[in-house]
Amino acid sequence: MSEELPVDWVAYRASTDVDAYERRWERLAAAGIDPHGEVALVQTFAPRTALDAGCGTGRVAVELARRGVDVIGVDSDPDMIDAARAKAPDLRWVVADLAELDLPDRVDVVVLAGNVVPYVAADNRARAVAACAGHLVPGGVLVAGFALRPDWPDLGAYDRWCTAAGLALTARWATWDREPYTGGDYAVSAHVSTGG
Ligand SMILES: C[S@@+](CC[C@H](N)C(=O)[O-])C[C@H]1O[C@@H](n2cnc3c(N)ncnc32)[C@H](O)[C@@H]1O
Repeated sequence: MSEELPVDWVAYRASTDVDAYERRWERLAAAGIDPHGEVALVQTFAPRTALDAGCGTGRVAVELARRGVDVIGVDSDPDMIDAARAKAPDLRWVVADLAELDLPDRVDVVVLAGNVVPYVAADNRARAVAACAGHLVPGGVLVAGFALRPDWPDLGAYDRWCTAAGLALTARWATWDREPYTGGDYAVSAHVSTGG
C-alpha cells in the first residue's frame, strides 16, 4: 500500500467516512492486493481463538471467523463497529479503546492489522500494547503490522512496549507474506507471551 496515509486516525476519519474506507479496500483488492494476507499469516499460528484489535469494519475478524477461528473484534470507533456488525451480526464486536481494554477473555492470537499501532494516540500506545498482551494465553502471540514513518513509532519503541508487557520477539517480516525483514519501511512483528 504505497498511497499517502494521514498521520493519525482522527485525521483519517475527518476526511474519510466508513463507506469511503470500505471502497478503499475494494480498490486495493481490485488492484490485486490480497485483502486476507493478514489472516493467512495469523493462521500459521493455528489459533482457536483470536482478538482483532482495532478491527475497523471487520475485514480481518470476519475472514478469521469464516475460517473457523473464534474471534472478537474490538475498535474504539463506533461507526466502524456498526459497519462490522452489519457485515457479521453473529460475531462479537466490542467498542473500546485498546488502552483501556479489559475483557475476561484470553486468546491464542491478538492481531493488530492495518497500521493500528500508529493510529492509537501516541500517549496510549504502550498501554494499548500492554492491554493486548494481557488478553493472550501464556504462549499466545501478538501480531502487528505497521508502516515505519518518521512521525510514527519505530520498531525500537514497539519492541520496548512489548518487552515491558511480558512479550518476546519471535519473528519479524517485511510483509504479511512473510518476506524477510531487511530494514524497509513496513514491518510485521510477532511477539510471544512469556507470562504464566
Ligand atoms: C486503518 S484502520 C484498520 C482496521 C482493520 N484492522 C483493518 O486492517 O482492516 C485502524 C483502526 O484502528 C482503530 N483504532 C485507533 N486507535 C484505537 C484505539 N485506541 N483503540 C481501538 N481502536 C483504535 C481505528 O478506529 C481504526 O478502525
